[in-house]
Amino acid sequence: MGKVIAIANQKGGVGKTTTAVNIAAGLVKEGLSVIGIDLDPQANMSDYLGYDNKSLYNISDLMVAAANNNLSDEYIVESIVHSKEGIDYIPSSIKLSGADLFLSNVMCREQVLNRILKKEIFSKYDYIIIDCLPSLGILLTNALAAADSLIIPVQAQKFALDGLVQLEQVYNMVKVNVNPELKIDGVILTMADNTNMSKAVEAELERKYGDTLFVTRIHKRVEATNSTFEQKSLVSMENSVLGAEYRNVTKELIERSRV
Ligand SMILES: Nc1ncnc2c1ncn2[C@@H]1O[C@H](COP(=O)(O)OP(=O)(O)OP(=O)(O)O)[C@@H](O)[C@H]1O
Ligand SMILES: [Mg+2]
Repeated sequence: MGKVIAIANQKGGVGKTTTAVNIAAGLVKEGLSVIGIDLDPQANMSDYLGYDNKSLYNISDLMVAAANNNLSDEYIVESIVHSKEGIDYIPSSIKLSGADLFLSNVMCREQVLNRILKKEIFSKYDYIIIDCLPSLGILLTNALAAADSLIIPVQAQKFALDGLVQLEQVYNMVKVNVNPELKIDGVILTMADNTNMSKAVEAELERKYGDTLFVTRIHKRVEATNSTFEQKSLVSMENSVLGAEYRNVTKELIERSRV
């Protein structure tokens, strides 16, 4: 069984999708097999991976089917897209924004994604990387219920640590009630620069998280935005500074997965 990692922070624009895609690309470069799950109705991960809207189904369709207890393997196969960089993924769609409604009367509704990812088809992957949306709702609890671990990207910015308390509350609630094995694999500092603000956030994260903070820092560079625009991972670009940083993050992650 592969390792399921949720990339989450309910704060918007902190680098979740960039981190999810580049960790996935980094793992593929290390020779591991990876499937990304785009759990954000904005579908940024799907777009970054070059989605052309050609798969028959998306993650919203799978969740509706699983909620109604008629999810078939064929359905899952028809939803998996193969990116040109070798990352498989299940795309998202705006329909996922209706999850609150379509899950509202479902029994064990925070376990729907978990039921999907426990299917045999997913056992061939070494890693399943879930890109979460910026919210603390039912989709986040589904991601945490299905995950072995959580990675939290934190942007080096004013008020960066506000909101982490609420995220930890959700994490603890899921851990106590549905997923006792859930862990925090790490916090990653993103968009770091030379400002005093950035250094202050870094110091506070070091103090608060210690070894849970990834040693590698992701710096702020325009490469990131170009990479999403070009639908090419940073990791795949030869001279990319952020690509090298994300490869180091990936190596740290593999190291952490061993222990
Ligand atoms: N290291 C970086 N340096 C500069 N810009 C970055 C960096 N990482 C991400 N960005 C840019 O910041 C924006 C937000 O990044 P991203 O989409 O990864 O965040 P997110 O947390 O997934 O956002 P959302 O909450 O909307 O899902 C994007 O335009 C992205 O290109
Ligand atoms: Mg995102």
